[in-house]
Amino acid sequence: MFKRKPLQITTFENIQQAQKYSEKTAKKLEKISKSFVYMIKRMGVTSGKVLDIGTGSGTLAIGLCKELPITSAIGLDTSNLILSFAQENAEKNNLSSRVTFIEGNAEDMPFEDNTFDLIVSSNTLHLIENPLKMFKEMDRVLKDEGKFFISDFKRNFFSLISGHIKSAYKPKEIEKILNQSQLKKWKIKSYFFWMNVLSECD
Ligand SMILES: C[S@@+](CC[C@H](N)C(=O)[O-])C[C@H]1O[C@@H](n2cnc3c(N)ncnc32)[C@H](O)[C@@H]1O
Repeated sequence: MFKRKPLQITTFENIQQAQKYSEKTAKKLEKISKSFVYMIKRMGVTSGKVLDIGTGSGTLAIGLCKELPITSAIGLDTSNLILSFAQENAEKNNLSSRVTFIEGNAEDMPFEDNTFDLIVSSNTLHLIENPLKMFKEMDRVLKDEGKFFISDFKRNFFSLISGHIKSAYKPKEIEKILNQSQLKKWKIKSYFFWMNVLSECD
């Protein structure tokens, strides 16, 4: 029931759309980044290098740098249109020395092996065409003890009225894909609208 239908367009088509997204989501994203901070502290990661996949306007990467003594964060996104707003946001927050934004695809990341202590991602998993490729890349670029925390909405009966929800994965589908990846010690927490895919805490 409610078969997944990927979105035709997975990124911003023009600068106006990117600007609108950046302005509209700023407040909401600040709240989201606070909940990430809470979870990440519980996972025991408070320092090191962080990667934010599908960073958009960079609010999560910036929020983590503000709230945690992490060394640096990289925001990865396929759209250089939205990354110009992310860069602007980092400058406004005096964080451009600690946050860098890079154009690239989560399925083929432009990073060396064993680079990151933590990988985060919000609202992006549903846009990933091949999550197995992304999980394999996450496994490659994460350090041995590295952790991850991914949050996105899941597919449900609202698929009938929303193409975005129809494009989302179900927790069971993600579980099957994770089992095919080399990532270890993960869990999926499923809520009414959302799911979190994260490293198990000891
Ligand atoms: C819905 S926005 C979410 C942005 C931000 N994380 C947030 O919570 O608002 C999804 C972002 O993922 C980016 N994106 C889509 N497919 C991607 C991929 N394969 N690799 C990296 N980024 C991708 C889009 O350009 C967009 O900026």
